[in-house]
Amino acid sequence: MDIETFVHGLPKTDLHMHLEGSIEPELMMTLARRNCVPLRWDTADALRAAYRFEDLQSFLDLYFEGCRVLVTQADFHDVTRAYLHRAHADGVVHAEMFIGPQSFTERGVPIKALMNGVLDAITDAQAAHGISASLLISVHRHRSEADAIAILDQIMPWRDQVVGVGMGGAERGNPPSRFANFYRMARERGFRTCVHAGEEGPAAYVREAVEVLAVDRIDHGNACLDDPDLVADLADSRIPLTVCPLSNLRLKVVTDLKQHPLKAMMAAGLHVTINSDDPPYFGGYVTENLLACREALDLSVEDLIDLVRNGIEAAFLAPDERLRLLTDLTHYVARQGYAEPHTLPSVLPG
Ligand code: HPA
Ligand code: ZN
Repeated sequence: MDIETFVHGLPKTDLHMHLEGSIEPELMMTLARRNCVPLRWDTADALRAAYRFEDLQSFLDLYFEGCRVLVTQADFHDVTRAYLHRAHADGVVHAEMFIGPQSFTERGVPIKALMNGVLDAITDAQAAHGISASLLISVHRHRSEADAIAILDQIMPWRDQVVGVGMGGAERGNPPSRFANFYRMARERGFRTCVHAGEEGPAAYVREAVEVLAVDRIDHGNACLDDPDLVADLADSRIPLTVCPLSNLRLKVVTDLKQHPLKAMMAAGLHVTINSDDPPYFGGYVTENLLACREALDLSVEDLIDLVRNGIEAAFLAPDERLRLLTDLTHYVARQGYAEPHTLPSVLPG
């Protein structure tokens, strides 16, 4: 079996992806026509060609523009179904998907249309493909904390169907500590928590995410490497980092994948996972991210298995579900005869 087929077949997670950032250009054109939303591009190819970014903000400008095509419950259903179908085809067995309601509620889209569309599609995809998926609600850090708390209140009717909350948007100048009350309230209401930090922002923002917000996971986290004490703390606590290498390349967080800090993060004992972020915008789903890193950073098969196991361990899953996925991974690796016994996942099948 070649390495591409092996990585494709690994039972993978995608723990950091944004549903609004998963709209393939063809679907974007369809939704725009359906809702009579004017776009600046006439064809899917022209739209795809526009996916060239200078930094996070230049991406966010296009990403928020794309959000305008999502209007009805059926639109949210279609976009979620399309991503889960594509992720399943990519060998993803469990996805944790962000959606940021503020982009939609500010235009008058009822939160009920968004929640019901996404949640119904999760149920349908589980039945159709056996893929498991959870919903994470994210808020925008370039808006106020009061706006974020308002979203927290609005999602309470779906408390049991939302696994956690996160925060994205323009990072520089918007430190995590600005949202301390929002995160405290989210925790008190039983949500798991994560926050984008250390993508364009400094190591100090990653430290605030851990020390002030006390999050369960960090999204990106690359900049932590600038603070050796922080790295030691993160390694000790095993707080997972959801790293997105192709996103980092396309947003110029790194100039070349060969310069990506992934290998240094692994060597430092950090709990790193590989994720897609906004796949059509950045040119790859999880398998493509793993294979691109293998090529650029000369990762071993054992490194790739470790990264996939880290993803399962970092997922917001019940212990029995996590164990089932770890067992599937162990069986898959053993069946392919790729790994030496000492490199097999630590949880062996019962
Ligand atoms: N960073 C911040 N906000 C985002 C991202 C990201 O990578 N993707 C979608 N929203
Ligand atoms: Zn992201």
